[in-house]
Amino acid sequence: MKPNIVLYRKIPDDLFARLQEQCQVTFFDGINADNRAAFIEALAEAEGVIGTGVKFTDELMAAAPKLKAASTITVGYDDFDVAKLSERGVALMHTPGVLTETTADTIFTLVLCAARRITELAEKVKNGEWQSSIGPDWYGSNVHGKTIGILGMGRIGYAVAKRAHFGFDMNVIYYNRSAKPEAEQQLNARRCSLDEVLKEADFVCNVLPLTPETHHIINRDTLAKMNPSAFFINGGRGASVDEAALVEALKSGGIQGAGLDVFEKEPLPVNSELLTLPNVVALPHIGSATHETRYAMSKLAVENLLAALNGDRSKNCVNPSVTQ
Ligand code: DGY
Repeated sequence: MKPNIVLYRKIPDDLFARLQEQCQVTFFDGINADNRAAFIEALAEAEGVIGTGVKFTDELMAAAPKLKAASTITVGYDDFDVAKLSERGVALMHTPGVLTETTADTIFTLVLCAARRITELAEKVKNGEWQSSIGPDWYGSNVHGKTIGILGMGRIGYAVAKRAHFGFDMNVIYYNRSAKPEAEQQLNARRCSLDEVLKEADFVCNVLPLTPETHHIINRDTLAKMNPSAFFINGGRGASVDEAALVEALKSGGIQGAGLDVFEKEPLPVNSELLTLPNVVALPHIGSATHETRYAMSKLAVENLLAALNGDRSKNCVNPSVTQ
């Protein structure tokens, strides 16, 4: 008998067909208030779930008593409580690697856009405000040769640092739980305390995973340690930042600007004060959002789920030692 699975995000047809060859698939094109009850009902028989954009709360976990494997189409797995999944012997699979370079491209785009005021000035041109040759009030800040401080030197942090070092001749410093010899040798990166990164970096770039320790790691106190000329870039998770404190720092000149791909609440509410600030570049969580990379993530997530349901937790499993 094919195992029952719930797919809660649209994936390309050929990948859907692959799932259907081996599983009985119940499909939801995203979960919303209208279909949440049906989703919960479908979880009752599910041995596997695959998708993204749904927080697996205690309610959802309790609704899925037969669950053996969860495959998230993301590298970050903060939608799941790993300890609770492990207690129940549920394998949690994710998609590291395939999105690294694309996400680093997005983050470096934010560095450039924030420093050179790209979106702000492009908007002025469109609005017909470019009436004479520009003066210092439209100038930006240099990126090349400056110091970039990476919070979280994992795969994506390294890929951002690589762009900074080789492409822009930047000085790389980083804050990470463990030392990263490869970054130190290849990119001349220097490991620092969080405070040192905040004080020294012209661009503080967050790519830390979201955990209880990193929740609101950027807050009023840490922002106060940054240089008034510095920029804050977030390509990790929105909840690593106390957004109210960030707004305050951006309004008061505590920092010069921000480039944000992720937010405490997504989609970002239209009445967010962040959207009123000219020194903010805000993107709709597009870190990995290219056709090629999203396809690769879906493919990997499908393969991960099928492997896990067959008892193979050797690749891309967050809790490989857990057995059912
Ligand atoms: C991830 O994979 O974690 C990215 O943030 C895309 O959602």
